[in-house]
Amino acid sequence: MEKNIDESIQGSTLVLDSKAENTKKLFIESYGCQMNFNDSEIVASILAEQGYNTTDSLEHADLVLVNTCSIRDKAEQTVRKRLEKYQAVKRMANPEMKVGVLGCMAERLKEKFLEEEKIVDLVVGPDAYKDIPNLLKEVEAGRDAVNVILSRDETYADVNPVRLGGGGITAFVSITRGCDNMCTFCVVPFTRGRERSRDPYSILNEITDLVEKGYKEVTLLGQNVDSYLWYGGGLKKDFHKASEIQKATAVNFAQLLDMVAKAHPALRIRFSTSNPQDMTEDVLHVMAAHKNICKHIHLPFQSGSTRILKAMNRQHTREEYIELVDKIREIVPDCALSHDIIAGFPTETEEDHQDTLSLMEYVKYDFGFMFVYSERPGTLAARKLEDDIPEAIKKRRLQEIVALQQQHSAYNTKRMLGKTVEVLIEKESKKDANEWSGRTSQNMVAVFPKENYKAGDFVMVEITDCTTATLIGKAVGYSENHKSENSSTYG
Ligand code: SAH
Ligand code: F3S
Repeated sequence: MEKNIDESIQGSTLVLDSKAENTKKLFIESYGCQMNFNDSEIVASILAEQGYNTTDSLEHADLVLVNTCSIRDKAEQTVRKRLEKYQAVKRMANPEMKVGVLGCMAERLKEKFLEEEKIVDLVVGPDAYKDIPNLLKEVEAGRDAVNVILSRDETYADVNPVRLGGGGITAFVSITRGCDNMCTFCVVPFTRGRERSRDPYSILNEITDLVEKGYKEVTLLGQNVDSYLWYGGGLKKDFHKASEIQKATAVNFAQLLDMVAKAHPALRIRFSTSNPQDMTEDVLHVMAAHKNICKHIHLPFQSGSTRILKAMNRQHTREEYIELVDKIREIVPDCALSHDIIAGFPTETEEDHQDTLSLMEYVKYDFGFMFVYSERPGTLAARKLEDDIPEAIKKRRLQEIVALQQQHSAYNTKRMLGKTVEVLIEKESKKDANEWSGRTSQNMVAVFPKENYKAGDFVMVEITDCTTATLIGKAVGYSENHKSENSSTYG
């Protein structure tokens, strides 16, 4: 898995299968987290009903939408640059095109966007996508249109996303929206609102539909999946007000995972992100009980220092995190772990930084996402703490973290040499058109000669070589776990 080194946010333009009767063209581009990519699929689905097919050509687009990220300042700067590009295209080649901003920056900046960026016609926050058809009417009538109202219960459960990425093999399925955690550095609770969970039956229906269309892997998405709790709708924080019946029939994350794994034994299931404070032993037992649940947990820890964790308002200490890691190793022994780390949070000392490195050393993560602290307006950290670590020190600490992670990634890939592992083939390798690229259950990327295998096959790959982050090998047959499908599909 590639490491995301502060910052490799990449935009992605997505094109989907078109509806013959649609005549208008939508260019939609996403930045930031997986949730944003899935939200763009929801928006594309809403707009498909309004006569729009997607295009990858800015010059030919009637409507350009950019789904934005506010998590760090750099992410916002990237989007500003894209708006400049749209402006140039509009001036030179496509004067009629309309431009809309979606996602976290829309929510954070609201109407201000229209003043700051003259090119923008439409501003829509993450809970208001169903209002886009109305907002477009406003835009067509020559008015600016803004809807950034956050919702208590919007989960888009009734929108079947049009799949834009994943090549027909892997798909994202959102299970919760928003976040109630209020980590002091984080803008997400302000831009995505309070936490709410989606009806498990609508989740199951969406997954069944994907399976019927031939998808082989789903990733259940939420800012904090382990906190999933369905009791009939509404905010998670209002659960205490639920009736006795609602409480008795509530579905938590372990139960949801179990339901999905049982309903679709041939489907690979992943989930992200796990917040250490909410991860239960039940989830680990469900993971251990089902072969089709991938053995990988993305378990951000942010800092190895309990003092900094407290200042971040993370609800666990260093010791509790280590205890959880030990539990994971005990219950799901072959589980890969990945992390998010922030270097240079306000007041971080060299000793705190060493605590981060020593925690990494203890866990030896398979991969991780590493960032320097970026002060976000309106967060508690921005209001209460001075951003007092000089940029050069932040960067140096980040480099040390990245270098250590590279050692650990290399250590983990090397451990796979000589082993034979199940890989789901996702796409052609970027480096060699004669090779397939796929992932193991542990989320490691593996490449190997194509032979007669096809994208979507589950194959056993013998690992003969590796780079820091990629396994290299040779397929030695189909996976036993998927034998019936393979034999019926491939005779
Ligand atoms: N629960 C979320 C976390 C969203 S933010 C999820 O599903 O991934 C992803 C990561 O960005 C966080 O874990 C944190 O490491 C990093 N991050 C968030 N706010 C940040 C900030 N202000 N500066 C630097 N990194 C930040
Ligand atoms: Fe942000 Fe913390 Fe939630 S990192 S998304 S406030 S768990």
